Amino acid sequence: MIHFNPETSTFNLHLKHSYYAFQIDSAGRVVHLGWGPRPETATETERIRGSIRYQTYPPHLSFITQHRPDEILAFGDVTTYQETLKVAFPTAGSPLARGESPHLPVRDLRLRYDQHEIVVSGSPGLSPAHGLPTGRMSERETLRVHLIDPVQPFKVILNYRLTPEHDILERWIELKNEGDHTVTVDTCYFASIHVPPGTIQLTTLSGSWAAEFTPTRQDLNQGIFILESRSVQTGHQANPFFMLNTPDRATEEGGTVYFGQLAYSGSWRITFEQITTRQIRVHAGYNPFDFKINLAPGDTHITPALICGVCQDGWGGASRRMHDFLLERVLPAPRGSQPWRPVLYNSWEDTYFDLDYDHQVTLARRAAAIGVELFCLDDGWFGDRRSDRAGLGDWYASPAIFPKGLRPLVDEVHQLGMKFGLWVEPEMVNRDSNLYRMHPDWVLHFPGRERSEARNQLILDLGRTEVVEYLQATLDSLVTENAIDFFKWDMNRNVSEPGSVAGQAIWYRHCESVYRIMDYLRRRHPNLDIQSCSGGGGRVDAGILARTDQVWVSDNTDALDRIQIQEGFSLCYPARVMEAWVTHNQNRITNRVWPLALRFDVAMRGILGIGTNLAGLSDVELAECAAYIAYYKRIRHIIQSGHLYRLQNLQTFGESVIEYVMPDGREAVCSVILRDFRPGSIRPLSPLRGLNSSGEYQVFDRDFSEFARLSGFELMTLGIPSEPDQYPGYSRTWYLTQID
Ligand code: GLA
Repeated sequence: MIHFNPETSTFNLHLKHSYYAFQIDSAGRVVHLGWGPRPETATETERIRGSIRYQTYPPHLSFITQHRPDEILAFGDVTTYQETLKVAFPTAGSPLARGESPHLPVRDLRLRYDQHEIVVSGSPGLSPAHGLPTGRMSERETLRVHLIDPVQPFKVILNYRLTPEHDILERWIELKNEGDHTVTVDTCYFASIHVPPGTIQLTTLSGSWAAEFTPTRQDLNQGIFILESRSVQTGHQANPFFMLNTPDRATEEGGTVYFGQLAYSGSWRITFEQITTRQIRVHAGYNPFDFKINLAPGDTHITPALICGVCQDGWGGASRRMHDFLLERVLPAPRGSQPWRPVLYNSWEDTYFDLDYDHQVTLARRAAAIGVELFCLDDGWFGDRRSDRAGLGDWYASPAIFPKGLRPLVDEVHQLGMKFGLWVEPEMVNRDSNLYRMHPDWVLHFPGRERSEARNQLILDLGRTEVVEYLQATLDSLVTENAIDFFKWDMNRNVSEPGSVAGQAIWYRHCESVYRIMDYLRRRHPNLDIQSCSGGGGRVDAGILARTDQVWVSDNTDALDRIQIQEGFSLCYPARVMEAWVTHNQNRITNRVWPLALRFDVAMRGILGIGTNLAGLSDVELAECAAYIAYYKRIRHIIQSGHLYRLQNLQTFGESVIEYVMPDGREAVCSVILRDFRPGSIRPLSPLRGLNSSGEYQVFDRDFSEFARLSGFELMTLGIPSEPDQYPGYSRTWYLTQID
């Protein structure tokens, strides 16, 4: 609920368990008052009146200027600290005093309150243009605060959209150039947020290829700490997500935690700043690195959003809020009769580039026989793509492998009762491709300069309209002609020479174009599913999730490495989007050998996939796979839609215990994996959460045998009894169902 007090010019934004408040001061500046949990007994009508000035500073601090916590920190009002927005005007805008030099461009923006409006809308997601509904379409309120510069014809609108049930605010800004000259924007974060002094313990997800989503916890010092991507995709080295709390005041299931994530897949930055007064600010949005927006007269620029919130139930509570928000308000709603993500087979780790038609058919038949629902043909199927040195850009079936095109394989897969998925990497081109030979100017580069390759490929210039249109048409006909149900959309390199017809705008234009192509395809093919992949987990964020159905988390499929990667992923993203494969006995990246049961138990924590050579498995092994898949299908609705609790995480005992529980508490899954179990020690039991304490539950093992019958009370106090055989790599996936 949004409330405005006209007497004190105070805004109160009330969410289910939290409040957010700010006030217009006498000069028209929008000043932050506070953000945090609401008192538990508070009613709807109790709010901050704004009649008292809260932030006054002792006189000995008078030399500290610019500490005022403005809702938007414009370069002009603030220069000492990090600004949200920096704009340069080519003219002074007002008459000069006699003899005064104009000091052009004028790098000074003051934003003063003009008016506000409250918009109520049921529009889905963040800003996707594909028109597909999200899971929940009920109306939400957005507060729009219009600000104007007193001298320049320049307007900024601050947006606050409320999702009260999850205590989530989406923040973004709109810039409008209402003058006669082009204005340049040098810094543009989507929002700056203020958290209370002392909220310095920061949780982030960083990593690298094959080790994505590694949780890191550290304290902020005075100064600036930066997370960023300097490429045109989200990146492996950091994910645009954070949690903040006061040290020692938060745990997995308790304490006040602030959290945020960007709905954007381009070059981003999140800047954490502790200024000299110990106030904490977080600025999140476009990366100012090599950044520029040229706003022509009459132009408007709307930024993507920062999604943020605060909760009182610890890091786990913050995760669950973000999971629910993404599932209900961001992801396209499940379509067709199948509400759950299908079990997938992917041939990449089996064949790499060594594809052959008959082998694919064998794989498809075996996959269907063990219960797979979606068969995905990976890299190597097109043009002259017999290695990563050629073919990218030529999106037609390789005549050497598919002499009659893709259709016979697609039809075979459909007849086997599975959907057909296809790997594409639309943003890329190899030099050795027909597309590059025809259009060598279609790639990011600076004329006369070297074009650096990575994985032997160059990036198409998605600042060019003709490239975007070419990709839309090519992918559209690929889907139409071959009845494709699913794209695995990959992106396998970082930017080197960012030269584009779009100039410096390419840093965000590339991402906008990817979104545009995806939105176009989804509009044209409402039943097409898309998986986001970028050399593993390099493009996972709320912006891409508004257009995709699932994501590839990492190329590292080693079961024990994967627990950590998936646990980190769960801090921000729900299991319903997390594709996870069971691959070979001996892992292709780490060379380690793990039992099939462990590999299944790890992969069942998300969307189960199979990536092993099914043609090389014995009938016994295939039957074992089929049994696990059948078990997964019985429990996946809980994994894909239940609330997730990290009952034990790896940092504490080297043991990972994750529970998924349905909102009514009648069904749950408890996944236990011991990574670093020390012989001679006894592992702690993990009390479950969210069950009905008076209920009686059956606990099933993954062979559907009943392991125990326990009351909800027993399960939520002591947990599931441990078994005697405990060793590193021990794993179980228990299914719990209430029987009375
Ligand atoms: C990336 C993906 C893999 C696979 C290869 C194909 O690395 O993450 O899953 O699709 O590309 O080249």
